[in-house]
Amino acid sequence: MEKEKINRESFSGTLAVFFATLGSAVGLGNIWKFPYVVGKNGGAAFILVYLICVAFVGIPVMVSEFYIGRKTHKNVMGALKELTPNPLWKTIGVFGILTAYFIMFYYSCVAGWVYSYIFKALKGDFTNVTADSASTLFGKTVVGPWPPLVWQFIAMAVVSLILIKGVEKGIERVTKTLIPVLFVLIIVCGIRALTLPGASEGLKFLFKVDFSQITPGAILAAMGLAFFKLSLGMGTMVTYGSYFTKDTNLISTSAKVAVADTIVSLLAGIAIFPTVFSFGMKPEAGPGLLFMTIPLVFSKLPFGNILLVAFFFLTAIAATTAMISIVEVLIAYFTEEKGFKRSSAVIINAIIILLMGSLATLSADKASVLGNLSVFFGKGFFDTFDFISSNILMPIGGLLIALFVGYIVKKQSLINELSNNENLKNIGLITTFKYVLMGITPILLIIVFLSSLNIIKF
Ligand code: PFF
Repeated sequence: MEKEKINRESFSGTLAVFFATLGSAVGLGNIWKFPYVVGKNGGAAFILVYLICVAFVGIPVMVSEFYIGRKTHKNVMGALKELTPNPLWKTIGVFGILTAYFIMFYYSCVAGWVYSYIFKALKGDFTNVTADSASTLFGKTVVGPWPPLVWQFIAMAVVSLILIKGVEKGIERVTKTLIPVLFVLIIVCGIRALTLPGASEGLKFLFKVDFSQITPGAILAAMGLAFFKLSLGMGTMVTYGSYFTKDTNLISTSAKVAVADTIVSLLAGIAIFPTVFSFGMKPEAGPGLLFMTIPLVFSKLPFGNILLVAFFFLTAIAATTAMISIVEVLIAYFTEEKGFKRSSAVIINAIIILLMGSLATLSADKASVLGNLSVFFGKGFFDTFDFISSNILMPIGGLLIALFVGYIVKKQSLINELSNNENLKNIGLITTFKYVLMGITPILLIIVFLSSLNIIKF
């Protein structure tokens, strides 16, 4: 066992840890979800609520995952096996693996669409685009059947090639290079957007302070968002934490990542909404915003095509670095628990994801080949994968993680790990963290879970 630990790879330093973890957090959620949910639910007031959720749910669960990972230096399944003989807590590992698959089945499909849009923008497909042609083009992209399957394959091939290279030469190198590129591109798009006539409407949508919209529903939305945004409840942060070295400050890393991730989301909003409003369009969420509204409005700007390429390229970076972190959960498990070579683990998992993911791709739209097939409470494959991962597995996984670290882990062990054997003078912070984890975090998670299943209604 010792030998295995010595041979294990790790991130090279604080900056690598920061960029890799931020690469996981920053994803499609920042671009197609966060800005819209903020605008819709009270702007700056909602951001405040979101930050409170990040503080009481997001950061505590992230730190707990880092604790489990760095303490054991193992994959999510192996880590839980090492920490406890109790099968209840071991389900954290099982759920982590399942969630990674379920998210990847549909996320890789959407990533494929994003990749195809870079190509379309490069070819100039969006010159003179109209609302109708934007929607026809998106329809074609999604319904396929072959183009979306091929693009999904390309997206998975990129992720696999990076992962085969390993933790330091693959994940670390790519995230350290691409996340700064993403920042630059998003700032360029943001500046362009802010210099448009009528940009202030968009900013008002995003940053108005309207506490009257802070309903229980909005608070729930903020919590669910914080969870998905920060890649929690499924062992991603356990796995990345297992590659941290003993001098990584777990609490400050999680706080920095949460803040930087929020900044990326706000920058995305600044790039999107002033543009949307200055063309008199209505903002919307999800695929419509990303694949129809954005090509439509960006293409009308001077140098619009270059901006579109930049925008889809940065979205592809976000989606790719997030996928890397999801698949790494599986690779770490297959190599450490099942004895696979890294390259075989990557290839086998890419094949599984592509086979199952093709079901998502073929059911993404009503007009798709499997568009009318219902597999789970009236939902098709695409929506089922999303629903089971985000509404069931992630909240339960997060709850179990919070309870395990809050109640089962010995306080001294927590102190040792979170203070780096008392090198950091943060005992007060750790004690506060433990109390939050024992009380506020699980209660909030239970409420989110029950309401996401419509068992309780507000
Ligand atoms: N945080 C990613 C996003 O906001 O798009 C999604 C995600 C990545 C969820 C990794 C879960 C995960 F493990």
